[in-house]
Amino acid sequence: MDITIFGSGYVGLVTATCFADAGNDVVCVDVDAQRVETLRRGECPFYEPGLAELVKINHAEGRLRFTTDAAEGVKHGQFQFIAVGTPPGEDGSADLKYVLQVANTIGQHMTEHRVIITKSTVPVGTCDKVRAQLASALAARNAEIEFDVVSNPEFLKEGAAIADFTRPDRIVIGVDSDRAEKLMRALYEPFNHNHDRLISMDVRSSELTKYAANALLATKISFMNELANLSEKVGADIENVRIGIGSDPRIGYHFIYAGCGYGGSCFPKDVKALVHTAQQAGIKPSILSAVEEVNERQKTVLFSRINAHFGGNLKGKTIAVWGLSFKPKTDDIREATSRVLMEALWDAGAIVKAYDPVAMHEIQKVYGDRADLKLCDSAEQAVDGADALTIVTEWKQFRSPNFARIAKLLKQPVIFDGRNLYDPELMQRMGFTYVSIGRQPITTEA
Ligand code: UDX
Repeated sequence: MDITIFGSGYVGLVTATCFADAGNDVVCVDVDAQRVETLRRGECPFYEPGLAELVKINHAEGRLRFTTDAAEGVKHGQFQFIAVGTPPGEDGSADLKYVLQVANTIGQHMTEHRVIITKSTVPVGTCDKVRAQLASALAARNAEIEFDVVSNPEFLKEGAAIADFTRPDRIVIGVDSDRAEKLMRALYEPFNHNHDRLISMDVRSSELTKYAANALLATKISFMNELANLSEKVGADIENVRIGIGSDPRIGYHFIYAGCGYGGSCFPKDVKALVHTAQQAGIKPSILSAVEEVNERQKTVLFSRINAHFGGNLKGKTIAVWGLSFKPKTDDIREATSRVLMEALWDAGAIVKAYDPVAMHEIQKVYGDRADLKLCDSAEQAVDGADALTIVTEWKQFRSPNFARIAKLLKQPVIFDGRNLYDPELMQRMGFTYVSIGRQPITTEA
């Protein structure tokens, strides 16, 4: 099938590549000429396991092409995906400028039936706006051409995007015609033929489903983070509580890990946007507001603990930070807790020695060269000569480090663990002062 994808960001590029890999003929349109050049060389502009290889192969075999020419894109695919950004505005609402610009472009150039699919996470009612924009662009040139507008939210997780796309838990489509449903079924057939995972519903429910999913996941995390803070105060261990409650299938083990807060391009933005939608609809978003508030607070927990440990004086102290991306297996640092921590450390006059397996260049892009940030080549180099080690992201390679060496390299054996990677008893035996989340701190005399 012929498919056009507007936007070759995270969702757009994964979608395009996976459709191309299933044998479809895919054209990606992006306004960023530099990004298009990178992709035309068969290179991937960001890190996602397995994606670079698939981009290269499908591009080389001619099933995946990249262009800045929107008219060419409109001409190409019967299926036109809109996967451009919806950045949050000042008030937290999603900015639909780019989505509606694409709708307008499609309306200006289409000459035969098109299915326009919103893949970007967009507020309820956006498909109606897309439809109106298309209708007005067609009316402006006196064209009468049929089209369908479909909501098809994306549920893929960074770090596991290809598997999530090609073996989805569910494919949600919001449609308002049989024709659109049939076409969407045919399009997703390669990823849906063993077991029907396609859930078809009305457009507005589909739009809300995406926000509901992300907001509920974020709620689970904030709930556990609140309970973690309580556990510390009442002498409990959140890890035991987690195992105790997760065994109930109604609760489940997933997404109940306490930590130093959630980040990324989705949860923070989507919770804010849903708060805004609720307020606009005249509903007080009590739970959603609390989820956000708890997370903002949780992102400051590591700093508070480090600061308290050093008696409120971090001037001239060197803190090693392991893990900068918002989660493992990605170089994405959007809304990452590492940034909140590093910025607070700098404000307090501390020096940061940072290490991440893949996100170093992203941090460099955001913060540039500064005297109080040392980007290190290895995890051990980061701890060398530091006053304490802080773990922000649970990359696999941080799970079983050489503790004896770390104790030697640090000025004092102190670890602040934002992801509960280590066994407190082991830390005690190894002579570390070990502060984690929702557990009792281990304090050892220096
Ligand atoms: C999320 C949704 O999972 C995905 O379905 C949607 O399409 C996009 O948003 P993603 O942003 O890639 O995906 O990250 P995810 O794996 O969900 O993690 C989000 C954040 O929550 C991370 O910062 C992670 O560290 C944190 N987290 C996750 C916890 O703190 N505890 C947990 O138990 C799980």
